[in-house]
Amino acid sequence: MQRLSDATRDALSGLHPIIVANRGPVAWQAPDSAHPEIGSIVENEGGGVVVAMRAVAQATNAHWIATASTPADGVMAGLAARGSIGPDAASQFNMVFAQPTPAQYNDFYNVIANPLLWFIQHYLWDVPHEPNLGDDTERAWRDGYTAVNRQVADLAISTAAGDKRPPLVMFQDYHYYLAPKMVRAAIPNAVIQHFIHIPWPDPGYWEILPRSMRQGIVDGLLGNDIVGFQTNRDVRNFLRSCEETMGYRVVDGKVIHPGGVTAVNAYPISLDLDAFAKFASDPMTQQHLAALQVGRPEKLIVRVDRMDLSKNIVRGFIAYERMLEAHPEIRGHVQFYSFLQRTRTDVAQYQGYMQRIEREVARINGRAELRGPNGELPIRFEVGQDIRKATAAYMDYDVLVVNAVRDGMNLIAKEGPLVNRRNGVLVLSEGVGAHEELGEFALSVNPFNVDETARAMFAGLTMPPLERQRRVTEMQRVVTTNHLGTWIDKQAADINLAAKVRGHRRPGPDISL
Ligand code: G6P
Repeated sequence: MQRLSDATRDALSGLHPIIVANRGPVAWQAPDSAHPEIGSIVENEGGGVVVAMRAVAQATNAHWIATASTPADGVMAGLAARGSIGPDAASQFNMVFAQPTPAQYNDFYNVIANPLLWFIQHYLWDVPHEPNLGDDTERAWRDGYTAVNRQVADLAISTAAGDKRPPLVMFQDYHYYLAPKMVRAAIPNAVIQHFIHIPWPDPGYWEILPRSMRQGIVDGLLGNDIVGFQTNRDVRNFLRSCEETMGYRVVDGKVIHPGGVTAVNAYPISLDLDAFAKFASDPMTQQHLAALQVGRPEKLIVRVDRMDLSKNIVRGFIAYERMLEAHPEIRGHVQFYSFLQRTRTDVAQYQGYMQRIEREVARINGRAELRGPNGELPIRFEVGQDIRKATAAYMDYDVLVVNAVRDGMNLIAKEGPLVNRRNGVLVLSEGVGAHEELGEFALSVNPFNVDETARAMFAGLTMPPLERQRRVTEMQRVVTTNHLGTWIDKQAADINLAAKVRGHRRPGPDISL
């Protein structure tokens, strides 16, 4: 687990940290759904947000406000409310749950956050045909998204009231764009910070949303002292949204608005190096590694992803198919191992995409001429979620494919090179945040260009060993230099400045927020 530096501890000291994220750091696992009360608490593996904030929560004894979305979460919420969340978890996390009704949560998560906001922020709408917005969208916005934001804001306000220290509220991601302004209205001197883990698109693309919604989003976010993004491009786009959508002035990277001043900065997220080293040496990971060797051809191409439309999984398979078509000599000597996770299964677009992926795999594996001399299948396809299994795949690839159309950061692009044992090559989309740091050491591809991606896969498979080694060493240097601790340190330093501006610190010479 990432330890916090002394500087960060000092920077955060005296404040009462409250993390607000849609998901919590732990989840309730019922061994038997008929008897959920005899289940157990397990670490929530899903997504970079949880992994990153878990370290902050544990080190600072923060409160963590999450939204209960399933019956299992409901069990957790009940335990948390009684202060009995379980021996391990209780000592590590102070959980507080918002409990929207199923209808509110559905409007919040399945109608507005995913797909509407997620699709806008990853440029996923097929605009000649979708989306079709209407009164239903307005209703879901009001009764779902706004209502859940109100609930978490109220919880943040009541949680803050239970502690003498001034609150530091740390919002995470696109689920809670409206809540910062609500908290600011109730606690004017709170230190409020928001990190957005996904891209912020060009203001023109935001115009898919009705004006009132996009203004509400920007206005809600400007309740923060600091808004953080993954990349400089996201920062630039957000500042333009403030100017163009709201007509506010931007001076020196800060937005001047009627409620005050909001700083906007890039903090590229990275890995918890200790946690990852543990996964790599875990006996279960070794077992998965051994299983991967069974039937493993000479070369392995790997992808690990949620089955999200932004990840560009289908084009990845088409590119691989084209590579096999162009290079009959490698058929049977290479396999594409794809370990994919089901995600957001109640959203129609995701259901369709998962089916499309499975059809594409069946089609390519069905082409007898692309198989090896002994009938070896071109693609090895597994669905599941298991960080140790994913780590085994990272350790064993010759080429890792990260060809997302857009991605805030994409931690897989960092996890793979960190633990890979074969001097594997990274094929990396220009559209992901990690490209700002790793692009020059990867094989960059335009994610829409399947032939370019096919050539990059082949170039990766055939690259001379010294060149592979040079590139992976550079990537490891980047990832171990800018790790999760660095991400936290940079934000903590800026939080400290914000705390000074809000009068929670003795004034010093460096008040410049
Ligand atoms: C991305 C988002 C996270 C989200 C994760 C998993 O990484 O930035 O906020 O938690 O995807 O998605 P889910 O909808 O399952 O939480």
